[in-house]
Amino acid sequence: MSQTVLVTGASKGIGLAVAEILLRDGAQVVAVQRSVTAGLAALQQKYTDTLRVVQGSFTDEDIIRRAVAAFGGLDSAVFNGGVNEPFGALATLPPDGWQGMFETNVFGVVRALRIVLPELRGAAAGARVVLVSSDAANHGIPTMGAYAASKAALNSINRTLAAEEQSIVSVAVHPGVVRTDMYTAFTVEAKAFAPPELLQMAEASAVEPVEPGRVIAALALRAPKELSGKYIHWNGEEVAGL
Ligand SMILES: NC(=O)c1ccc[n+]([C@@H]2O[C@H](COP(=O)([O-])OP(=O)(O)OC[C@H]3O[C@@H](n4cnc5c(N)ncnc54)[C@H](OP(=O)(O)O)[C@@H]3O)[C@@H](O)[C@H]2O)c1
Repeated sequence: MSQTVLVTGASKGIGLAVAEILLRDGAQVVAVQRSVTAGLAALQQKYTDTLRVVQGSFTDEDIIRRAVAAFGGLDSAVFNGGVNEPFGALATLPPDGWQGMFETNVFGVVRALRIVLPELRGAAAGARVVLVSSDAANHGIPTMGAYAASKAALNSINRTLAAEEQSIVSVAVHPGVVRTDMYTAFTVEAKAFAPPELLQMAEASAVEPVEPGRVIAALALRAPKELSGKYIHWNGEEVAGL
């Protein structure tokens, strides 16, 4: 029987790629995002039976409840949706900038987990949670402190989740540098503080969403128990055989 996977932020970028790969692999997908882009609408037309689109913010508990009900249960959840703005230095970014970042990237996930976890515990094929994190969690990057801290919080939540929910495999994934709107926003911002060599290095390592998308989709369907609680690089050794 096909698995049912919740994917947040499937309107574009990495999330859209993950949703498409899952659908192609025969999974049922519930996509949660605020906008329905041309890319997501095209998937809706192609996968009329296996894709449900729930339009709204994943930070809204009613939206998550609707998503859980869309196919009558869940086997996996990919928390990919997120923001990297506002940018701002510690000395200048007002507290509400930090709050906005954490409201989406952290509290949105925490709220959704409270609704999703009881559903996942009953998954016949073994349940999985994939948290899309970032390498920013491990670095001090000027003006990106709120984003980096929000991703570090996700990594910590992942470890707690793995320790508390023995029947659920939970992994945090760093997707690399990925050519999406979020990456574009970073490159515009980084011009103000980063040496050109750093931007060139980022550009040289940048990949298309489908590349980490394949790994994230594979983790959602079959991440093994030994990865639970781990923070994984999208092209690291741990995921080579997935
Ligand atoms: N691109 C990179 O280089 C990179 C590197 C490291 C980590 N990441 C992480 O990868 C994930 C995906 O980013 P991306 O690069 O694919 O960015 P993107 O192209 O800007 O897409 C972001 C997605 O998040 C969704 N989203 C944002 N707020 C939401 C909300 N409140 N409710 C529902 N959906 C929401 C957006 O959908 P709507 O606007 O339609 O709601 C969109 O689908 C993020 O968690 C990001 O931090 C990206």
